[in-house]
This record gives sequence, structure tokens and C-alpha cells, in this order.
Amino acid sequence: MSDLLIRGRVLTFVREPEGIDDTAAYRFHEDGAVLVADGKITGLGAYGEVAKQAGGNVRIADHRPHLVLPGLIDTHLHFPQTQAIASYGAQLLEWLNTYIFVEEQKFKAPEHAAFIAGRFMDELLSNGTTTAVAYCSVHPQSVDAFFAAAAERNMLMIGGKVMMDRNAPEALRDTPATGYDETKRLIEKWHGRGRGHYAISPRFAITSTPEQMEMSGALVAEHPDCYVQTHLSENLDEIAFATSLYPEAKDYTDIYASYGLLGRKTLLGHCIHLSDREIAVLAETGAVGVFCPTSNLFLGSGLFDRDRFARHGARHAVATDVGAGTSFSMLETMDEAYKVLHLQGQRLSPLHSFYMMTLGNARALELDHRIGSLHVGADADIVVLDSRAKPAMELRMQVASTLGEELFVLQTMGDDRSVAEVYVAGRAMKGSRAKTGGESSTALVMA
Ligand code: GUN
Ligand code: FE
Repeated sequence: MSDLLIRGRVLTFVREPEGIDDTAAYRFHEDGAVLVADGKITGLGAYGEVAKQAGGNVRIADHRPHLVLPGLIDTHLHFPQTQAIASYGAQLLEWLNTYIFVEEQKFKAPEHAAFIAGRFMDELLSNGTTTAVAYCSVHPQSVDAFFAAAAERNMLMIGGKVMMDRNAPEALRDTPATGYDETKRLIEKWHGRGRGHYAISPRFAITSTPEQMEMSGALVAEHPDCYVQTHLSENLDEIAFATSLYPEAKDYTDIYASYGLLGRKTLLGHCIHLSDREIAVLAETGAVGVFCPTSNLFLGSGLFDRDRFARHGARHAVATDVGAGTSFSMLETMDEAYKVLHLQGQRLSPLHSFYMMTLGNARALELDHRIGSLHVGADADIVVLDSRAKPAMELRMQVASTLGEELFVLQTMGDDRSVAEVYVAGRAMKGSRAKTGGESSTALVMA
């Protein structure tokens, strides 16, 4: 395949921005280009320079005046909940029992799992998300469907089978032994295969017995290169129930700590109602609190306190948490994140939002050498954003004069319509796929 030269207004972060004017935190080329060969970035900079480097035998994808950024990253969502978004009226525990534990039973059927996995990946791509960390259902066949759909599209995806052996319908329960054995087999099958990474996934303390927690800890010790994902401190009733099930634990966080589940590759969804002691434990272990604003508002769970995390030196990431989250769009997610922080007197600058969706989340996953920024040697996962995708955006953009303003318009008004194109390992994936409903897995269109 010939090399590909992607031309546009190229933006990539090199570190966390310290304020709205922190121009040293990013690199921006008004007429820039990214050169791609064999799925990797081989050149980056001003168009004239990169075009010279490219030489003659190159295809050019001219995306001017759109922005060219690293593909967006979503660090927490549930693929079997794709059809359960917008389930009305309940807070966490009632919502799980009424809707989610019914929906997830459908994933026993491999055909259903494969159908939803395909639609899920295409929905991510049409929203500009090229990497996500997802929960599958309790069924190993759902994990097979998930990684097969990711591999078909060559996406760097992280996921795992939820382990749950109590407080759920019989049809969704494994056992400490089967949860362990199935997870082990799935790690062997999918972790490190293509661009797949496995996440050991005890759903949360409420749905796992101490014996299953013990087995989860064993899996983590045996597979230190795998991720760990679970939920922590999302809802007050959940916290009361979880801590009542583990009376010997100091608090909710201590349940996971005592089974050896906390480390730098551990992603903890929500972390809304933590004590100072608990945040200090996260800071000490390097575990990442995952801020899911649309979900936290939708389920009425509470407000994530980012500044408190920062004061303790604890790590955090951002995510949609579909299907409690109400959108696959990371742009819409950051719009809600802005409002959640605003309600607490905290500010989220557009530079910081775009940092979080890209390099910030890549760092949370310790994958920043491969994704989340545009640099030579990185995987060519790239999103092209149109700041004028809707008439109201176009009108607003007529009076925008800075890059920061443009990013804020994108975050506040943008959605999947603002994603003009998305490249996965150098291959254009939006174009005709989205228009045909994403059913076809072979109709790949090159820019
Ligand atoms: N806690 C345990 N399972 C879930 C889930 O599926 N979604 C959310 N938001 N919280 C959970
Ligand atoms: Fe979740």
C-alpha cells in the first residue's frame, strides 16, 4: 500500500495544559500534515516539509480546514448496554436490576453478541473514538465477539468478561472457579493478539463474593500486564450495600485494595463519594479514577471532584460509561464534564478537555507511546474534526478567533456530525461505512 499524507490543521498535545493560554502544552500546524506508512506515523509537521519527506508515491487526503487530532479514547463503557441507553427513571441498583441484568442475558447468543459488537465498534468510530476500554457480559462468547469485531477493524481495544457470582440473576452468574478459568482462557486467546488487550473485570464488590475477589486477585497477580476494571463509589445505596457485604473492610476502596486489585493498570469507574483516605489509597497505588459525567448525571449518582483528585496526586481519566452514559461521543462527554465541574466551582478549559480525550486518557492507560498523540512511531489512529458541522456551529464559528474558542465550540456543540473522518492504523473508517449503517465489515473506503 502506498503511503498516505493526511493534510489539515494538525493539533497534538505534548503534556497536560496548565491553563487556557498554555500554548507550550501542544503542537499546532495551521497547514500541517501527518505521513502514514504501514499503520504508523512516519512524519509530522508543516505540510511543505512533510510533503517533501513523502516524495512522489503518496496518496493525499486533504482535510483542510478541519482539525486533525489523535483518535479519541474512551476509558470505560459497556458494550452489551449499547441497546439499553436511555432506560428511564431509576438510580444505579434499580437500573441494573430492571434493565441491565435483563439486557445482558441476550449476550449468551453468539449471533446477538456479534451483531451488537459490530454496531458498537462502528458507533465508536463514527464518534471519532479509536480506542475504548469496555466491559463485556459474563458470557465468554461476548468477549470473543468484542475482540473479533475490534480485530476486523484493526482497532486497539481493551476489554474483558465481567465476573459476577452473586446479587444478579442466575443466568448472569459465574462462580469463582468458572470466572477464573474463563478469564484465564480469554486472556490467553485475546491479550496481545493483534491490538487487543485484556482487562480483568470483577463487575463490582456487590456482585462478587469474597471467594471471587480472591480469584480476581490471583488473576491480577498472574497477569500483571493485563488491565483491571471495576466500579467504585458511584451511588450512596451502592456504597452502603457493598460495605455491608465486606464488614471487615475499612471502606469501599479497601475491599479492592485488600484483594490486591489496585495498581497503575486499574481503572475504577466513578469514584464520586470517596473519603480522603480512599483517594490517598488511589494516589499511593496509582489506580485511576474514571470520570463519567453523562452517566453520573443520568443516574443521579453525584459529581466527580476532579480538583480533590489533583490535590491528592491521584490519577483520573474520562469516559462515556454507555449505557448509563447517554452518548458515545467524547465531545458530548466533555461538554457534560465541563458542566459537572462548573457546578463545583471548577474550570475545565477546552485545552484540558482535548488533552484528556487524547493524551490524558492514553497516559491513564500507559499507552501514550502508541496512541493519544501524533508523533513519529505512534499508531496512525487519527480523527478529523469539523468545527462547522451544523448551521449553528458554522454561525458561532464566524466570530471565533482563537484555537481555544474553536475547541470549546466543538466540545459544547459538537457530536458525531463533527467527525469528518477517522483513521484506524492509517485506514479511513468513517466515510461510506457510516452511511451504510456499518453493517458491512468489508466496505472500507480510502480517503
Ligand atoms: N456498577 C456495576 N455495574 C455497573 C454498570 O453496568 N454501570 C454502571 N454505571 N455502574 C455499575
Ligand atoms: Fe460502568
